[in-house]
Amino acid sequence: MANITPVDIKARKKSGPPISMLTAYDYSLARMVDSSGIDIILVGDSLGMVMLGYDSTVPVTMEEMLHHCKAVSRGVTDALLVGDMPFMSYQVNMDNALMNASRFLKEAGCDAVKLEGGTDMAPVIEKLVRAGIPVMGHVGLTPQTAASLGGFKVQGRDIERARGIYEDALAVARAGAFSVVLECIPSDLAELITKDVDIPTIGIGAGPHCDGQVLVTNDLLGLYDKFTPKFVKRYLNLSPQIKEALRSFKKEVEAGDFPSPEESFSGGGEAVRAIKSQA
Ligand code: KIV
Repeated sequence: MANITPVDIKARKKSGPPISMLTAYDYSLARMVDSSGIDIILVGDSLGMVMLGYDSTVPVTMEEMLHHCKAVSRGVTDALLVGDMPFMSYQVNMDNALMNASRFLKEAGCDAVKLEGGTDMAPVIEKLVRAGIPVMGHVGLTPQTAASLGGFKVQGRDIERARGIYEDALAVARAGAFSVVLECIPSDLAELITKDVDIPTIGIGAGPHCDGQVLVTNDLLGLYDKFTPKFVKRYLNLSPQIKEALRSFKKEVEAGDFPSPEESFSGGGEAVRAIKSQA
């Protein structure tokens, strides 16, 4: 169980400071994110693209999500841990949604789940919350259904879609979610939603007026260079540094410079002499 609870996160709407949320998909990075004081760690289904090499988040399975959530949960002591429900794990029927959501808490050590969708998904959110499963909503650009939204592009620049996203956020809040991710929408629409919903909004590509911000950690660190959305800020560019280190390893192996005595073990002389004398 994490130190930070969904109730704490909800209270930050009024008390501040702004909420920080980052993704993690494995034990080592989870430990680093957790010890940096980040409030929420999300095992996002973005792992499908970043870790598993899929072209989208659609193919990600429950088993893949649970596998990564279990690894991350072993590295988290302070942050709230949220598991992302994959495509079609909560849309088929209520019982299936409830069973799948419960697995994130019972088997994988998560504190809450996240699911995509607004008005249409409100009954599912309500059902999970009533059963005692804290839910984070996700509206605006919803990657699992990006194809039907016209691709990975800004949502809500026209009145009809903006009103739809606004209604979606209100519906998610009314259904009992403790927070909602706003993805890839204009800053002024995010500002209006943030003012009108009574739960914290956590933005990604939604401007500075949200109650918190989230990024994919691999983007922030420059570890995923296949595609970088405009809203990503690279705090580090690790990819070239990692490649340089790997090339140095190869060069040293080929030159016989690695391992040196410093990376080797002594003390086998007697055993070697004995083997040689018996040979
Ligand atoms: O899957 C994910 O990483 C997400 C965040 C980008 C919010 O949904």
